[in-house]
Amino acid sequence: MKHTIPSKYSINKPINHKTFLINGEIGEWNGEMVDVYSTILSQNDADEYTFLGTTPKMDEAHALMALDSADNAFKNGTGKWPTMKVYERIKCMEKFVSKMKSKRSEVVKLLMWEIGKNLNDSEKEFDRTVDYINETIDEYKRIDRDGAIFKNNNGVRALIRRGPLGVVLCLGPYNYPLNETFALLIPAIIMGNTAIFKPAKHGVLLIAPLLEAFKQSFPAGVVNIVFGRGREIASPIMKTGKINVLALIGHSSSANSLQQLHPQQNRLRLVLGLEAKNPAIILDDADMDLTINECINGTLSFNGQRCTAIKIIYVSDNILDEFLEKFSKKVDSLKLGLPWENTLLTPLPEPNKPRYIKSLIQDAIDKGAKVINKRGGKTKKNFVFPAILYPVNSDMDVYNEEQFGPVIPVVSFNNIEEPIKYMAESNYGQQVSVFGNNESKIGPLIDSLVNLVCRVNLNSSCQRGPDVFPFTGRKDSAVATLSVHDALRSFSIRTFVASKDNDENKEILRKLIDNKKSNFVRTDYYL
Ligand code: G3H
Repeated sequence: MKHTIPSKYSINKPINHKTFLINGEIGEWNGEMVDVYSTILSQNDADEYTFLGTTPKMDEAHALMALDSADNAFKNGTGKWPTMKVYERIKCMEKFVSKMKSKRSEVVKLLMWEIGKNLNDSEKEFDRTVDYINETIDEYKRIDRDGAIFKNNNGVRALIRRGPLGVVLCLGPYNYPLNETFALLIPAIIMGNTAIFKPAKHGVLLIAPLLEAFKQSFPAGVVNIVFGRGREIASPIMKTGKINVLALIGHSSSANSLQQLHPQQNRLRLVLGLEAKNPAIILDDADMDLTINECINGTLSFNGQRCTAIKIIYVSDNILDEFLEKFSKKVDSLKLGLPWENTLLTPLPEPNKPRYIKSLIQDAIDKGAKVINKRGGKTKKNFVFPAILYPVNSDMDVYNEEQFGPVIPVVSFNNIEEPIKYMAESNYGQQVSVFGNNESKIGPLIDSLVNLVCRVNLNSSCQRGPDVFPFTGRKDSAVATLSVHDALRSFSIRTFVASKDNDENKEILRKLIDNKKSNFVRTDYYL
């Protein structure tokens, strides 16, 4: 199908991105390159994906150079960056965010082309990231102020602050290649850690416009950006044992295999956001229109490619028919389109995803489910129309697997213990949505659900935001907590100076503070 691209969003020639950032220098890669294809079909040949350009396929030697650079900048905690005054690190971050803002249109355009995210959501991803950085700066000042107090207990005086952990390997996901990666990278570096960052499999070119901003804003070695495959970049880095924090949002299989490569596992801290299979539980007194709207967004924003998406729907038997009828109608009325057309449904960026979604549907059909909506499962190259499957049972793959795409399994229940049992047996424990209106039913249900997941959304779909709230999960869904505040904690450790409370020590501390001889022992207050 011929499609028109608004000139504002067109990419006139392929982007051959060749540079990387190691040790404060932008280097040029002259080795093997990886082709980057857009999820959007080409205008010339409607059956081919659009060729967007190339990115470096860097090798182990360069991965280890990036590691050395981060390791030297941290210098076992004695480097310039980890010992720097907090306000100087903040100044670097402020410089970065102001430079980053000037790249908004370039990055938004590439988000649409590389991962097929619609215009509104691409803009939201960029703006939310800028807000996240600004909020992180404010929160860091608050944490620093809280640490500017001496405590005295049992004859010991202490000044307790938070200090960095070391070298961070930062790997983000393709569905939020900017936001989720930066929600790891930014708190990590502002706390005084140094980092090696490798963009996700899709959403790589959009990092390129920011390389110069990183170089100009931070001292050499603080942020190192390399491109290539996880196997060639991340694995050799982990094997050295020099990584102190593995910060990864993605699949638990990658997290597990990288963790295992580290020779000193207790040295390695983990900050992980992994799979989820968030259920919606619809009680018989739920407001049907509200529930359907929330379930549409919950299951299908960005085609269901969100870790927080609703990935299975449990409906009370009493309202099942009404729900299926109205929900199918609403799903069938959704439009498929290109990102700049701002439709909810857009092409899928992973070339194998349509085949996988098809296999989930077929497996469910073979085991007794039906596709309930008329357009469900219709596929055109990389567009897949969402399929509502009912009745789904535990033998089907879609019941257990995180589909991360446009297929919606529905299960009916007549006893609330059924969805609770599902959640208790699940390997995941991120969030749940509960729809209902009777507080006598909802109250005890909430009391159980809060202990099975980490966020219960009442009459609302699951989501990560607002970013000041904790984002985490139980079981195989997460390790550590992310929020503007919690991320700063996750990338740091409490460390303190203690002294016996006597006149001599008091005098030394007073002089340290008055003469500003230490960046750690100080009581100044950043506004
Ligand atoms: O992929 C997981 C994201 O953290 C989801 O964030 O709920 O804001 O879309 P979101």
